[in-house]
Amino acid sequence: MQLYIEQGSSLQGDINVPGDKSISHRAVIIGALATGETVIENFSTGRDCLSTINCYKRLGIEISGPHEGVVRISGRGLEGLREPEDILDVGNSGTTMRLSLGVLAGQPFFSVITGDQSLRSRPMKRVTEPLKKMGAVILGKKGGGCAPLAIHGGSLKATANISPVASAQVKSAILLAGLFADGQTSITEPYRSRDHTELMLDSFGAFLNVEGNTVCITGHPVLKGKKISVAGDISSAAFLLAAAALVPGSDLTIRGLGVNPTRSGIIDALEMMGADIRRFNLRQNGGEPVADIRVRYAGRLRGIDVGGEIIPRLIDEIPVLAVAAATAEGKTVIHDAAELKVKESNRITAVARLLTALGADVTELGDGLMIKGRPVLKGCFCDSQGDHRIAMAGAVAGLVARGKTMVHGAECIDISFPGFGGLLRSLASK
Ligand code: S3P
Repeated sequence: MQLYIEQGSSLQGDINVPGDKSISHRAVIIGALATGETVIENFSTGRDCLSTINCYKRLGIEISGPHEGVVRISGRGLEGLREPEDILDVGNSGTTMRLSLGVLAGQPFFSVITGDQSLRSRPMKRVTEPLKKMGAVILGKKGGGCAPLAIHGGSLKATANISPVASAQVKSAILLAGLFADGQTSITEPYRSRDHTELMLDSFGAFLNVEGNTVCITGHPVLKGKKISVAGDISSAAFLLAAAALVPGSDLTIRGLGVNPTRSGIIDALEMMGADIRRFNLRQNGGEPVADIRVRYAGRLRGIDVGGEIIPRLIDEIPVLAVAAATAEGKTVIHDAAELKVKESNRITAVARLLTALGADVTELGDGLMIKGRPVLKGCFCDSQGDHRIAMAGAVAGLVARGKTMVHGAECIDISFPGFGGLLRSLASK
């Protein structure tokens, strides 16, 4: 599927975006391990979260929905999963695979998990090695480094783990495995990654302790099913926030957006670039901070330097941040972001390719990108390479570039944000 975008009129609107993908995954997984019913409202509409639902159905959990955004899970407790009949295929979803590896490591049965071509090439040792240290038996392609992965879990030992990368998927896999271990399992990361797993486990009744960049969990808690209302996905909203900051005359409000500080780096970065962003109606939603956000066009943005602790707080937003940088005044350097190479595509190369096609001045760095902004970009051909965030970054670029932009392979947008193209068009035509 192709998406055609033309240099846009201003974006105007007052909208909600679909529920957060990271939180939706966790709600299904933790709901499956809790006793009693979990009801999830405003569940993510993306394909990745459907992969999580299917995976836990195959593990014997009764799940209904999503019906009008609501998913109901009949949790069977920590001991309630069943050996799956067949391979668990989680499609493109790295979060489903890595978090579920943590759960499967604690199960006294055999399972095999795989995914699509992109996911089968993504690194899994960062998860499988610590899980093996805890006592799980895991075999896989490339010496256990890539899916398909075969797991036989069971009685796990609590261990102290240090992750070389700030990764919520690694942290969450270890914490979920820690539910099945005797004693305290800990994970320390170089910077704080998104903490949705910790917040949700805590709200279901687990015992966690957080000190600096170390999270510790006590095994064998009783988790109780509950009602969850998922906040709007800041990673989806980021494309619209950036578009409104870039297109002259825009004034866009997004309601009920998750603004957890471990996720809201894109708001901080756009503000550093000079964007006019206001947060209001700040509130808590099941331990997760939520706000309404208004962005108004405030002139050409300025280049910035981003690295260090902010990177895990905006890792998924770097493609659209790079598009903003391509039109900004001055230089933007994005560093400490080598993780981009192992996302749904190599996002350093994919972004550099997109910006080059737009006529921007971009240099690939070993751990990021250097971008010198240009006042005018030209419409281009953008190949999504099956990566939803590259496709949406291409579409936002198309709104500010002269002439037409064609995003090829735009169907992958459904992985996180079905309806994105139509919504963008409707916001730009008001
Ligand atoms: C996610 C964590 C991040 C992010 C991904 C979703 C999560 O990955 O890029 O889109 O829900 O835990 P890493 O943990 O690999 O950084």
